[in-house]
This record gives sequence, structure tokens and C-alpha cells, in this order.
Amino acid sequence: IPCSIHNNILDGSKHVAAIIAETIRNSQAEGKACVLGLATGSTPKTLYAELVRMHREEGLSFANVISFNLDEYYPIEREAYQSYYHFMHRMLFNHVDMKPEHIHIPNGEWPKDAIKQYCLEYEKQIEEAGGVDLQILGIGMNGHIGFNEPGSSIHSHTRLTNLDNTTRFANLYEFPNISQVPRLAITMGISTILKAKKIVLMAWGSGKAPVVQKAAEEHMTEHIPASLLQQHTDTLFVLDAAAAAELT
Ligand code: F6R
Repeated sequence: IPCSIHNNILDGSKHVAAIIAETIRNSQAEGKACVLGLATGSTPKTLYAELVRMHREEGLSFANVISFNLDEYYPIEREAYQSYYHFMHRMLFNHVDMKPEHIHIPNGEWPKDAIKQYCLEYEKQIEEAGGVDLQILGIGMNGHIGFNEPGSSIHSHTRLTNLDNTTRFANLYEFPNISQVPRLAITMGISTILKAKKIVLMAWGSGKAPVVQKAAEEHMTEHIPASLLQQHTDTLFVLDAAAAAELT
């Protein structure tokens, strides 16, 4: 997988922001909507800050952007600070000219007995929007993308899934204690992600270096979900020097 390596998180984030801005402006020039797939977690925080800056200082408009977030905890209340709904509004949506009806985030409040139908509907909404033009990803220490934990099938769709305990501990910093970290999440599947026209995965820091090396350079395996991105013809890894340190 091609890698773009930067001195620090800010430079890497600016690189991704420039790719997003170009995708948005190309769609605007063609008079079309731009469909973005978005991620949460600590990795894209600087990216969203940079997009907000570009909106304020460079007139980058999100009026034609339709977004689909990768995942959400389940169950969780939308207004909970830890929800990805809350995160996205705090980091990006409250500060740019996104139309509320263009924002899609899996709903962690949906009744459990109707989740299957809800997930099918999420996939259908992506298709009806014309498919994802650009999918932004982070990567878990265990190689997960979205919340597709190791063992997730390359054919997986949007669904309710179990979080690995390692993932729950990695995300504990947002919650009062481990028992409060949800055990489930709604996530786009690997096949959902692979349908995107372009994919950009970001990773920062030495902790991610081993898994970045495996995903980018070793054989494809469902044990390292991010390695399945090798199937895709337009995927780029954007890394800081520390995350790139184990590449050969
Ligand atoms: C979040 C997501 C996850 C994170 C991953 C890395 O929407 O899809 O796959 O990208 O868990 O999390 P951070 O960025 O917190 O290291």
C-alpha cells in the first residue's frame, strides 16, 4: 500500500485535509454532491481542526458534502459526551456549513430488535447518495478499521458487532471506568469500506508502527483487517515518521 510519510501529525493532517478539500472542490466544479466517509477517535482530531480552519480562513464550503460516519458505540445516547455523534458535532459539524440532513452517523439509540433493518438501510443510504467518494480511516492497535475487529470478513456489511476488550481498554480514556465502555458497536463492514472510490488511512505514533507495517507490507489476512485494504486500487496510508518507523 502506498504511504505518504510526514514529519509530524500537523503536516500529515494538512496533507489529508488538502485531499479532502480537492475532492470537495472537484465535486463542486461538477455541480455534484461530495460523499465523505468519516472516522472518529484521536487520530482525525487535528484533521478536523484543519478543515474548520480552511472553512473559516479559506472559504472551503461543506454545503455540497454528504457524510457517512464509520461507526458508533451501541447502545449510547446521542447526547452522551462519548458518543461519536457528539464527537463529530464538537470537532467538525458545529463549525462548518454542513446541512444537518446530509449528516449520517449510525444511531446508537436504535432499538436492538430493529438493528438489522437499520443497518441495511444505512448501506442503502450510502448507495443512494452515489457511494462514498473518499473514505477516511484510522487504525486500531489490533488492525481494526471502523469497528471491524480481527476476524471480520472481507464480505462484511454494516452491522452490530462486538468490540474486542483491547479496543474497549484503548478507548477507556473517554469513559469514567471500563464497565461503562460499551461492548457493542454499529460499524460499516469491510465490504462497505472497500466500495469507496478512494481510501485514506491515517496513523500517528510509534504504538501504531507494528500494525501499520503488517497492514501495508505483509500478506492480506482477516486477522489484520486493515491489510484487506490491499484489495483496493486507490488506498493511501498517511503516516507520521513514528508510525512509519517499521516499514521496510
Ligand atoms: C473510529 C474508528 C476506529 C479508530 C481506531 C483508532 O471511527 O473507526 O477504527 O480509527 O480505533 O482510534 P484512535 O484514532 O483513537 O487511535
